[in-house]
Amino acid sequence: MKCRTCRNPAIIDLPRHNANFCAEHLQQLCRRQVEKAIHDHRMFEPTDHLLVAVSGGKDSLAVWDILHELGYRTTGLYIALGIGEYSHESQTFAEDFAARRGLPLVIESLRDDHGFDVPTAARATGRVPCSACGMSKRHIFDRVARDGGYDAVVTGHNLDDEAAVLFGNALRWDVEYLARQLPLLPARGGFPRKAKPLVRLTERETAAWCIVRGIDYIVDECPMAAGNKHLAYKQALNLIEEESPGAKASYYLGFLERMAPLLSGLSAQQADELASCARCGSPTGAETATDGSTVCAFCRLSEKARGHEPVPVEMLMSKSARRAAAKEARG
Ligand code: AMP
Ligand code: FES
Ligand code: ZN
Ligand code: ZN
Repeated sequence: MKCRTCRNPAIIDLPRHNANFCAEHLQQLCRRQVEKAIHDHRMFEPTDHLLVAVSGGKDSLAVWDILHELGYRTTGLYIALGIGEYSHESQTFAEDFAARRGLPLVIESLRDDHGFDVPTAARATGRVPCSACGMSKRHIFDRVARDGGYDAVVTGHNLDDEAAVLFGNALRWDVEYLARQLPLLPARGGFPRKAKPLVRLTERETAAWCIVRGIDYIVDECPMAAGNKHLAYKQALNLIEEESPGAKASYYLGFLERMAPLLSGLSAQQADELASCARCGSPTGAETATDGSTVCAFCRLSEKARGHEPVPVEMLMSKSARRAAAKEARG
């Protein structure tokens, strides 16, 4: 197996490119795909200060590494979600990466800074954990970016993630979500600009980036995500990809090129009027609390969750995830 570019021994085959690559040229490919995403979607100015949301997983550490290497000024943001051992471990990976590269990392803890955690919020509200978790993360990304004066929030969403979300939105023909499913969302009404520079790279490619760069990351999936629809959509697309290499990229990138422009009128309409949350001052739609004031969804969530006694993560894990965790603990 030889590298397409230099003919030296290859370390990875990428069927969608119909080619193999050595470590050096795999990195070149990843860098170029990120530069293309940044350029095509006009994500950043060279002087921007970027807040990179890092989970301790391969994608967010890879995007931080690549943006730093490309010369951007970056600060990491890790949110401790209180998901037991999974959260402790993932925090360590984020901290180790930041320390090794000498990069600043902001750490925000749901439990210490807001008085609740994801398992407790899920139980207190009757929502699935991923919903309480996603809402909390988005709120904290926005607030830290606003308070710190960052130019954009960067996340590690990759091609597999975006294709799976697109698949879910298209199964429901959720046109409002489809209209907003873009690699770059401009700042609006007090919300910061949001960018996903990895949309042209698959998770296999970002994992390979981390391996050749010596970046340690948390391999386990979140124990509460087991069995969710997003993972099922990913598996379905992987089956299709196996049959026709490149199908996933052409599905998602074709959406961006040919379908998203048709929906752009709809996303402009969604730039609706925003109010200010009476509790935290964040911009919010017109959600009204029982006392008639406008309170954002995160503050309503946190009010409910803070009043609930702490719920251990095991209580919310699916049966199969609990069985796997018990098996691992037994060695
Ligand atoms: P997920 O929603 O878990 O698929 O993660 C998508 C992206 O959100 C990741 O690539 C990160 O950029 C960001 N992210 C996820 N979890 C955290 C976390 N605990 N703290 C900061 N950013 C996170
Ligand atoms: Fe959010 Fe698992 S990381 S629920
Ligand atoms: Zn090579
Ligand atoms: Zn609020």
